[in-house]
Amino acid sequence: MNQLSSSKAGPLSGTITVPGDKSISHRALIMGALSVGESKISGLLEGEDVLATAAALRALGADIYRDDNALWHVHGVGIGGLREPAEPLDMGNSGTGVRLLMGLVATHPIEVTFTGDSSLSSRPMKRVTIPLSEFGAKFSGSEDGTLPIKVIGALTPMPISYELPVASAQVKSAVMLAGLNTPGRTTVIERIPTRDHSERIFKYFGVPIEIDDNDIHVSGQTELTARDMAVPADPSSASFLIVAALITEGSDLTIKNVGMNPARTGLFKTLVDMGGDISFENERQECGEDVADIHVKYSQLSGVTVPHDRAPSMIDEYPVLCAAAAYAKGDTVMRGISELRVKESDRISVMVEGLQACGVNIIEHDDGMTVSNSLVNGGALVKTHLDHRIAMSFLVLGLNAENPITVDDGTVIETSFPGFSNLMNSLGAKICP
Ligand code: S3P
Repeated sequence: MNQLSSSKAGPLSGTITVPGDKSISHRALIMGALSVGESKISGLLEGEDVLATAAALRALGADIYRDDNALWHVHGVGIGGLREPAEPLDMGNSGTGVRLLMGLVATHPIEVTFTGDSSLSSRPMKRVTIPLSEFGAKFSGSEDGTLPIKVIGALTPMPISYELPVASAQVKSAVMLAGLNTPGRTTVIERIPTRDHSERIFKYFGVPIEIDDNDIHVSGQTELTARDMAVPADPSSASFLIVAALITEGSDLTIKNVGMNPARTGLFKTLVDMGGDISFENERQECGEDVADIHVKYSQLSGVTVPHDRAPSMIDEYPVLCAAAAYAKGDTVMRGISELRVKESDRISVMVEGLQACGVNIIEHDDGMTVSNSLVNGGALVKTHLDHRIAMSFLVLGLNAENPITVDDGTVIETSFPGFSNLMNSLGAKICP
């Protein structure tokens, strides 16, 4: 464990970009691994979560390597061509990695054991094993549906029609990926829209997919064409810089090439509603995804009530929104977000504990929290519970606090945002061990 502290700093200014999108990076590697031929991926996130997926796909038979220009080369095995790995696949901290790969292997006639760190091993997996059982896959492991879990893939998978009981892109994608090696048409019914990176990348790689209203139909057992991908910068990672600039007087920052998929931009909308000076420039499409450069300046924010139906489009951003809310006038009400309790940590109780220790006025609700304008005293040591977004959110909060804020473990940031502290410091922040 390496502690990191952030202290009051001058304005943040400059033009930079942030590492590649985590969701798209996992999916680009997986689709490359299922295609015949070579896919080249630029901008891939080289964080621990995505590296765990790359290692797992190698163990499943794909040839994946990085060249000296940071271009990733993936030679796929074709749909149906995965081989049984010799060892369990250690997915580290990555919920996306494990849930997507469980879906992928569930319809291959192989046995694969998945393990993870203590955070991942406490997260619910029944949400994927239940629909994947319907394809004919079997699972062995603990009764409560947590890792380690052995997946015994179906020999003759049957297509299913599945209505998602939770708004989860991971569950949706697990079912879609299982559909790829299943004859016939697999259907996922999604009443509350979640990030649609899988739908977009399926189209991009030539999977026959039809979307009509809430229904997503995937036709299985077709051949995928290898494609080159340019992964945009991660809007969730950009969010830490955007909030940092909004709360630090005099800041003026441009973040280039950020993913602007509408299913991911809920925090940007909320910050604009709060009075944030944020503009989107050079809007364009790349490899099936929306991209723009984001220009943000220090702003006096005011609290808002975040609409419930916006939650899926900013599900990872509530911790950093709490940092903005602490400095905003009035109250910021965040409800309808019980899903935060089953992320890398229970993000509601961990934020409440840490914010209270820093002197922030926060009320915990069963399904969310309300943060009020505060004189942020800081001076606390915050427990991150193996959660990268908790670590970064408190380091952002510390940029304006009366006393430094320390997180107990800065190494967890490596899962999604390698180089976070150096990048922040290069813009004017003060984050150090
Ligand atoms: C992700 C979906 C979300 C999100 C996670 C990435 C994805 O999880 O929190 O960081 O890439 O599909 P849920 O599907 O569990 O909401």
